[in-house]
Amino acid sequence: VVAVRRMTPADLDFAMTVKQAAGWNQTEADWRAHLDLDPAGCFVAELAGEPVGTAVLTSYGTDFGWIGMVLVHPAFRRRGAAAALLDATRAYARERGLARVRLDATPDGRRVYLTQGFVDEYALTRYRGRATVPPGAAAPLGSVAELVEWDAARFGTDRGGVLRELVGRPGSRTFTVHKGGLAGYVVTRRGAAATQLGPWLADDRDTAAVLLHTALAGVDGEVIVDVPLVNRVANDLVTAAGLVVERGYTRMGLPAGLVAEDNAVVHATAGADRG
Ligand SMILES: CC(C)(COP(=O)(O)OP(=O)(O)OC[C@H]1O[C@@H](n2cnc3c(N)ncnc32)[C@H](O)[C@@H]1OP(=O)(O)O)[C@@H](O)C(=O)NCCC(=O)NCCS
Repeated sequence: VVAVRRMTPADLDFAMTVKQAAGWNQTEADWRAHLDLDPAGCFVAELAGEPVGTAVLTSYGTDFGWIGMVLVHPAFRRRGAAAALLDATRAYARERGLARVRLDATPDGRRVYLTQGFVDEYALTRYRGRATVPPGAAAPLGSVAELVEWDAARFGTDRGGVLRELVGRPGSRTFTVHKGGLAGYVVTRRGAAATQLGPWLADDRDTAAVLLHTALAGVDGEVIVDVPLVNRVANDLVTAAGLVVERGYTRMGLPAGLVAEDNAVVHATAGADRG
């Protein structure tokens, strides 16, 4: 029978092992960021006293919780570990007064979430590759407070804690475009195998292009970008930069509800584990 407990820093080796087994791009810094932001939202599933799986919940204000890092060791799948982890994250979300939980599902994960009543919101496409782009002239980040406030109106809720960590992380780079006020920003950070580009938000096509080109010009090696399918401009720009489709994701929620974010402005997410 599966038992779920809180994750501690002593679980980081196990957490990295299951992450690697799935071929995901997160680093130990990503796990540590989840633990630092809210240790009570990080869970480990055990079978017979051995760790077999993980999940984390990030609280976005009082609006919704974001479930991520749902991973079960390949040798221990189909024994209810993911279902038990989802129960634990949902119970914690209720404790925090969050009305909904949401996530970006892989095809494997979606099978589990459908059995739990999650409803599809929309599709995302992950692009990957080495980019070839013209130079861009976006400016390095000035005020993080301005960025956080501008983002909240477009992401649909305040995610200042998550953004400040991503922007401040060693090796990450943030660029902005101002047209009178802020018109967009982009963040890149190191991953295990590729640089993750996102969040990438822009009010118009020119801003989006300048941000993308500036950010990509600074990337050595491969890049990963998670793009909402409905954002035609974003899909066109990353394709023109030479990136190719790696896989699809489905954004899902429970219970079903309004989509918070403005996907004319959101060109790329912060990554599947953060939304
Ligand atoms: C997705 C994943 C976490 C599922 O973990 P799991 O512990 O095997 O899932 P559970 O045993 O709790 O499955 C619960 C139910 O979901 C459904 N399900 C799970 N895996 C399935 C599969 N491969 N095919 C069909 N249905 C599946 C079944 O209805 C299952 O109940 P059942 O076994 O009684 O039929 C695991 O396969 C994994 O780590 N995959 C790689 C990483 C990943 O994609 N994670 C999801 C990120 S969104």
